[in-house]
Order: sequence, then C-alpha cells, then structure tokens
Amino acid sequence: MKLTEEGALKLLENFRNKVEDTNWIDHSICVGKTAGKIAAKLGIDVEKVIACGYIHDIGKGTAEFENHPMQGYKYLKELGYDDEYANICLTHSYLNNDINCVAAEMHSKDIRILEEFITNHKYTIYDKLITLCDLMSMQVNVTIEKRLIDIYDRRGVHKNTVYNIRESQKLKKEFDEMLGYNLYRLFPEITENL
Ligand SMILES: [Fe+2]
Repeated sequence: MKLTEEGALKLLENFRNKVEDTNWIDHSICVGKTAGKIAAKLGIDVEKVIACGYIHDIGKGTAEFENHPMQGYKYLKELGYDDEYANICLTHSYLNNDINCVAAEMHSKDIRILEEFITNHKYTIYDKLITLCDLMSMQVNVTIEKRLIDIYDRRGVHKNTVYNIRESQKLKKEFDEMLGYNLYRLFPEITENL
C-alpha cells in the first residue's frame, strides 16, 4: 500500500500525545519538508519523499533509540505499507551500505538482520535523500556538521565517527552534483542557524 503525505503526517502526529519527548516528531516534519524541497528541484516524486521523511523515525514512537530502525520498519509493514516506505526506517541511519557507518552507535537486538539488509540493499535516490535530509535537520535546517556535533554531544563519539563524517559530506556532494549547485542555497535559513 502506498503512503500519502497526509497519511504519513497522521501516523506521525498520532504519537505526539503518547510520547514524552516530541523533538523527534518536529525533526521528522523538518526532514520531510527539506526532502520535498530538494525533490522538487530534482524532478522526483515530491509527495513520496515528504511521506518518507515524515515516517523515517516512526520507530521512536514505540521503541528506544537503539531499536528504532527495525521497529519503524515492522510498524509500517504491519500496517500494510510497501517496502519502499518501510525500508526508509532501516536505511536512514546507515551510510555507504555499512552498518558501522553511523552518527551514533546503536546496539540493536536485530543487528544480524540489519547488517544483511544494509550490506545488500541497493539504496534508491529516496533512501539517500532522506538520509541526507536527516543529517541537515534538527527541528530546523542546519549544516551537516552542526547536526553531527549535536548528535555527538548527546550520544558520544565512537571509532567510526570520522568515517561517518566523511561519508555524510560525500552524500551531500552527490546531491550538490545532481543539482549543479550547493544545495544549502535552497535553505538560506541555515545561515541563521549556524
Ligand atoms: Fe531522524
């Protein structure tokens, strides 16, 4: 089943009164809108991209941080949504098809299944775009570096931190090249949030 922008927002907002910390909900809205803006310039499906942005962290509604990718995937599959949406919950935290290329370390109980999926999955432009927008969204748009520093501040650094920074910058460059200019130009408010 396809997920609409409106349907995705409903799924997300459904958790607003059920969780203590709602920062991730506002962050998810920011990710969806950010991705929609870039998608419009790239000529890809804007509604699908926004929906994917809204639900990428949906697993945080019912699971602790460490298990939110798999929990989000299962949640969407149980509701009958297609893999292209549910997969976003798995792909958004891992760069370079590598389970170790993360901003914050996660010790998921489903690590073996995740590793197999992340290693073999062919990342679509939708997967990559949500990963990128997650890296430039707090509750507002910020540079990738500012977002990463915020994550390190809350969750600490680890042995793959520098590797993850490099891959994050590479991912942005890939989209800069697709657009033909620095994508931060689409988000002038970033300069207010330095
Ligand atoms: Fe996120």
